[in-house]
Amino acid sequence: MLSLNVVGAGKLGRTLAALWHQNSVFEIAGLFSRSTANAHAARDFIGAGIAVSDMNKLPAAQVWLLAVPDDQIATMAAALAPMIARQQSSAGQPPMLFHCSGALPASVLAASETGLLASAHPVHSFADPKRSLTDLPGSTVALEGSDEVIDVLEPAFTALRCNCIQLSPAQKVLYHTGSVMACNYLTVLMDLSLQVFQAAGIDNHSAMTLLEPIVVQTVKNNFALGPTKALTGPLVRGDVATVARQTKALRALAESSESGTAATPDVDAATLAAMYQALGKAALPLAEKAGLSQDARRQLQSIFDET
Ligand SMILES: NC(=O)c1ccc[n+]([C@@H]2O[C@H](COP(=O)([O-])OP(=O)(O)OC[C@H]3O[C@@H](n4cnc5c(N)ncnc54)[C@H](OP(=O)(O)O)[C@@H]3O)[C@@H](O)[C@H]2O)c1
Repeated sequence: MLSLNVVGAGKLGRTLAALWHQNSVFEIAGLFSRSTANAHAARDFIGAGIAVSDMNKLPAAQVWLLAVPDDQIATMAAALAPMIARQQSSAGQPPMLFHCSGALPASVLAASETGLLASAHPVHSFADPKRSLTDLPGSTVALEGSDEVIDVLEPAFTALRCNCIQLSPAQKVLYHTGSVMACNYLTVLMDLSLQVFQAAGIDNHSAMTLLEPIVVQTVKNNFALGPTKALTGPLVRGDVATVARQTKALRALAESSESGTAATPDVDAATLAAMYQALGKAALPLAEKAGLSQDARRQLQSIFDET
């Protein structure tokens, strides 16, 4: 079994290490994080490995995972270079190094000065590591980098019942942007929707209760039917007057918020109005494909174009 060091003991790092330990894929060697307490907490979560307070005290390992925030990856790779060089000279071969960013290519690790680099992006939200221990199987992992590292990582993720695909470095940014738009922005849309309910005087709990079945059904419809057939509501029906009333209501909310007379000051009404218009505009080509008449489309476009 190959040994694994984990640098960055956050949500993703501890989850993957725990799963690889449980499935006897890697022997968990060292764990290092910015905060030593977090490295120890990760050790307890994983049930294996040695938490160290100084990166230079990490043991040698054949594979290294850099699970730090994206903006820290290149700096940490450079900081690891002397240790990697030491390990290479004593073991006779360089260790493998990978990160899990969706947006960055393997080459961001170049300053580590080992040629064995990869990126492995699980298309999964590690918001709650305990949940991810059971929910990760079935997720896709996008691999990119040197063949030798991919030959190790592909079976490692397959052992966790993930599906692996391979990407080129040039594909990574837009590939990741696509998954951010569908996954992260869905969460942002939920928050915006809850703010609108709040402005209508409907509390969070009631709004969540009424939204859950329809949001889940909409997500399922999107996967079963595709976005064009899944789109329902006033836009695709061409209910121009309804859309005009909703736009007006959000603008009135934004104006009362600007003048300090809003009943719900914690609602960001200006953003709500702007997002309703921007997403409405983006929906028009889809609605037209789904049967919206050209005349209704023009009227809706002029509502959304009004400032
Ligand atoms: N979360 C997701 O859903 C997800 C999904 C796919 C890919 N990813 C990728 O996974 C990577 C890690 O993300 P994450 O969500 O696990 O982030 P996270 O929970 O914020 O964990 C990052 C960890 O890195 C540690 N860290 C930060 N700067 C450091 C430094 N200079 N030296 C050592 N440790 C440092 C932090 O340490 P302390 O807490 O100890 O201060 C933290 O525990 C990122 O590249 C991200 O793009 C995340």
